[in-house]
Amino acid sequence: MKNIVILISGGGSNMAAIVKAAQTQNWKSQFSAQIAAVISNKADAAGLAYAKEQSIPSLFIDHKAYASREAFEADLMQQIDTYQPALLVLAGFMRILGTAFVQRYEGRLLNIHPSLLPAFPGLHTHRRALEAGCQLVGATVHFVTPELDHGPIVMQSAVPVLAGDDEAALSARVLATEHVIYPLSVRWFVEGKLRVEQGRVRQVDGASQVLM
Ligand code: GRF
Repeated sequence: MKNIVILISGGGSNMAAIVKAAQTQNWKSQFSAQIAAVISNKADAAGLAYAKEQSIPSLFIDHKAYASREAFEADLMQQIDTYQPALLVLAGFMRILGTAFVQRYEGRLLNIHPSLLPAFPGLHTHRRALEAGCQLVGATVHFVTPELDHGPIVMQSAVPVLAGDDEAALSARVLATEHVIYPLSVRWFVEGKLRVEQGRVRQVDGASQVLM
């Protein structure tokens, strides 16, 4: 069984979209893949409650209880490794991860970022895109490398900026596309359909890696 471990910090809507895809598409029997655990660094993350409702093993690890990032990550890695994950999924996990952590899971560590990378790494992507006068924004699923919001791009969604859009409206429109491209990217990974070649990701069936 290929275990998928998902890290969250908040609403967990991307995590929930992945869980739903796994359930409705029967990933267990189709690809021998399951969501093995959901881990949050916030006790009150709505996503944690959802995971519990779905009977998915869920864990809270408080980063504030540790003297250093290294100590937090060492414990986090220990917890993650009890599930021997084939894939570790960052879904709105709002902690910057150190090099040791990233290197441990490199090649089996995915993130979603709400911008068309390499534009707008970091926070407040929608506000910055509006300020820059962007006509097109989106989200990116990518393999994680030590550099923040960087790494081989699995899939991107593109949405237009509409007249009158504010940060909230834009963020909601992009988030809806995240719920499509993240489950699909995760599914491709567990199906063994992604190849990383010279820093670029190829879907072996030639499926489109763009959602417009
Ligand atoms: C998403 O916009 C994701 O791209 C970003 O944080 C947000 C998380 O939303 N990294 P949710 O917790 O999945 O609802």
